[in-house]
Amino acid sequence: MSDNSVIESLLGKDKQKRKSRIPAKLDFLQSATGLVLAIFIIFHLLFESSILFGKDSMYILTKLFEGEFIIEGGSPLFIVFLAISIFAILILHSLLAMRKFPSSYREYMRFKTHAKLMKHSDTNLWFIQISSGFMLFFLASIHLYVIMTNPMNIGPFASSDRIYSDSAWIMYLMLLVSVVLHAGVGVYRLIVKWGWFDGDNPKNNRIKTRKIIKAVTIFYLLIGIFSLASYIKIGYDHRDNYGDRYSIGDKK
Ligand code: HEM
Repeated sequence: MSDNSVIESLLGKDKQKRKSRIPAKLDFLQSATGLVLAIFIIFHLLFESSILFGKDSMYILTKLFEGEFIIEGGSPLFIVFLAISIFAILILHSLLAMRKFPSSYREYMRFKTHAKLMKHSDTNLWFIQISSGFMLFFLASIHLYVIMTNPMNIGPFASSDRIYSDSAWIMYLMLLVSVVLHAGVGVYRLIVKWGWFDGDNPKNNRIKTRKIIKAVTIFYLLIGIFSLASYIKIGYDHRDNYGDRYSIGDKK
């Protein structure tokens, strides 16, 4: 082999090495954006459930997010800024996730047969994650678009009017189930993939992790459903005053 071809083959190998690092980096980025979104949802659903403690609690939190402690009376622009940032992370996460979708019907059927044969629960989890992720493409976009274009219409009455009188509860119910399942399965897969809690006994610890995540997922589904029911009840009682805004101590 001539010196040149040795150098070329070494350069080729180096190129291949560099190329092969890209999927790993994309994988890391997908995990990182997924984790940020999961943390966001964990807090978001807790804040939304403030309605369970009464209208005043949700009103105070809304004003906090509108930056009332910075600007007198707050500004919906803070909400728009937050929503745009989350949307950007969501778009990046979805773009990266598209690599993992079965790219053809034949590939999908192969996956289904494989899942059936293996009866492997992790493969089933992957299926839940990919179908809930697909739903989220649409549902999360609708929700974020509505919030970004109506940032001033958030609060105990404004949100309840939207949920009851504008019938948004149907979309929220689907969004809730999709996002909680997606985040639950996603966080479990992250923990397993990066071996975060493997310790000395990975097999046992994974079973424990699975149980904890299952319990947290059920908890989030329940608080989401109860909060949604609470918004529906407030919206129903408020239907004749649709569009009126809430103020502290309001009994309407
Ligand atoms: C900064 C971005 C976001 C803001 C400001 C925001 C705000 C809100 C508000 C105010 C509500 C109450 C209903 C309403 O007023 O329409 C709500 C409900 C909800 N949001 Fe978001 N949201 C954001 C991002 C997201 C994302 C990215 C997801 C999931 C992908 C999500 C999932 C949900 C769900 C599931 C509910 C219903 C909660 C329940 O069942 O009680 N939100 N959001």
